[in-house]
Amino acid sequence: MAMRRRWEIKQPDELHVLQSAQMQAISWIGAYLGEAGNPRNLEIVDAGQAFLKPERLKQREALYLASANDPAQHMRVATNHNDRVLGLLYGTQTPNQQELQSLYVDPEYFGTGVAIDLVEDFIDWSDPERPIELSVVDDNYRAQAFYRRMGFTAVEAPPRPVKAFGKVFKHLYEIDMVREV
Ligand SMILES: CC(C)(COP(=O)(O)OP(=O)(O)OC[C@H]1O[C@@H](n2cnc3c(N)ncnc32)[C@H](O)[C@@H]1OP(=O)(O)O)[C@@H](O)C(=O)NCCC(=O)NCCS
Repeated sequence: MAMRRRWEIKQPDELHVLQSAQMQAISWIGAYLGEAGNPRNLEIVDAGQAFLKPERLKQREALYLASANDPAQHMRVATNHNDRVLGLLYGTQTPNQQELQSLYVDPEYFGTGVAIDLVEDFIDWSDPERPIELSVVDDNYRAQAFYRRMGFTAVEAPPRPVKAFGKVFKHLYEIDMVREV
């Protein structure tokens, strides 16, 4: 007998706003916080807390609602039977680029297949005639290993400072990866 899936992949709505922001904050801090004394820790914690600011929650809610009616945006959460958010993926298409913008999984669900299902669902949605691009922090080796398994390869270029959430990070650098057609 086939094993029943323990999660569902779906478009989020206003009920998922706070929980997905909390999950993303924890996943972000877990991925990027360095050893004690690492100069980047302050900006990582600041950015992690910023996920929970009221204005950012409002923006998130607006994005969840707008993306539901926009065929160029793919916003999905993985939820369990209690509607708890286990993972989040956001991808977009523009005339120039098809991009996986963000992917976060609850650390309790690392290695369970939630991330695989979110990315496979995104690949199913994407245009198979065009590459899929993404950026990933240069020392986020877990994410890079995961993306390699999903068919992405690193683009040869020097890492550049991460620009995200309206700021340029001083101590966080990213590289690009691409999943060719
Ligand atoms: C990136 C992410 C979505 C991947 O999901 P996941 O469930 O952890 O992925 P998996 O466990 O299926 O795969 C991780 C791979 O990294 C490997 N890995 C784990 N730790 C590693 C490390 N420190 N260095 C190198 N590889 C590592 C695992 O062995 C596994 O590879 P394998 O299956 O070939 O053995 C998830 O880890 C996450 O949400 N991370 C925090 C947020 C983040 O980094 N998002 C991506 C931003 S672009």
